Amino acid sequence: MQLRPFRISDLDTLCLIDQACFPPGISYSRTELGRFIAHRQSRTWVAEDGREIVGFLIANRHPMQPLAHIITIDVIEPWRRRGVGRALMDAAENWAREQRLKAVALETAEHNRPAQKFYAARGYVKHEKLEHYYTDGAAAWVMVKWLEEKSKVGGRMSKVDR
Ligand SMILES: CC(C)(COP(=O)(O)OP(=O)(O)OC[C@H]1O[C@@H](n2cnc3c(N)ncnc32)[C@H](O)[C@@H]1OP(=O)(O)O)[C@@H](O)C(=O)NCCC(=O)NCCS
Repeated sequence: MQLRPFRISDLDTLCLIDQACFPPGISYSRTELGRFIAHRQSRTWVAEDGREIVGFLIANRHPMQPLAHIITIDVIEPWRRRGVGRALMDAAENWAREQRLKAVALETAEHNRPAQKFYAARGYVKHEKLEHYYTDGAAAWVMVKWLEEKSKVGGRMSKVDR
């Protein structure tokens, strides 16, 4: 398995993977995914084994704060617990560090316990609960990982958008 940058020909496959990973109301449409990927402040990593795409991650930079935002991370079911998610998050966090960003934030559905365990194992902490965050009415946890000691960052992090 290796990581590579996104290619436009990947979009249909990433859309199918997102729909397999998330229920309706939480998964993104093709248009939404394409818009996130195309944003000039975003980066997408694709995990590939041979010619099969086994996962991907989209991250972007917050426009006002020194913060990276994980828009989505998706690993296909047969490839889970094999280090693909870890490799994708390492790439995104390293990208954030290279830009001297202070923290990485994301939202995860309140009922998505496997994802919360995955993030907690990487040092993410629950920061704020957003009621009715998803279009299906589910709540989300904002989880945050500080890339340097919090005392050095100074001040309280303001509310993350989305
Ligand atoms: C969450 C997700 C990205 C994790 O990807 P993954 O490739 O399976 O994760 P890794 O194999 O790199 O796991 C790294 C560590 O995270 C933790 N972890 C991962 N999945 C876990 C689970 N289901 N339960 C508990 N801990 C878990 C473990 O500590 C694991 O290390 P270990 O396998 O040595 O014990 C993947 O399960 C997924 O795509 N789920 C569906 C989509 C989703 O929920 N995305 C997150 C939305 S916010």
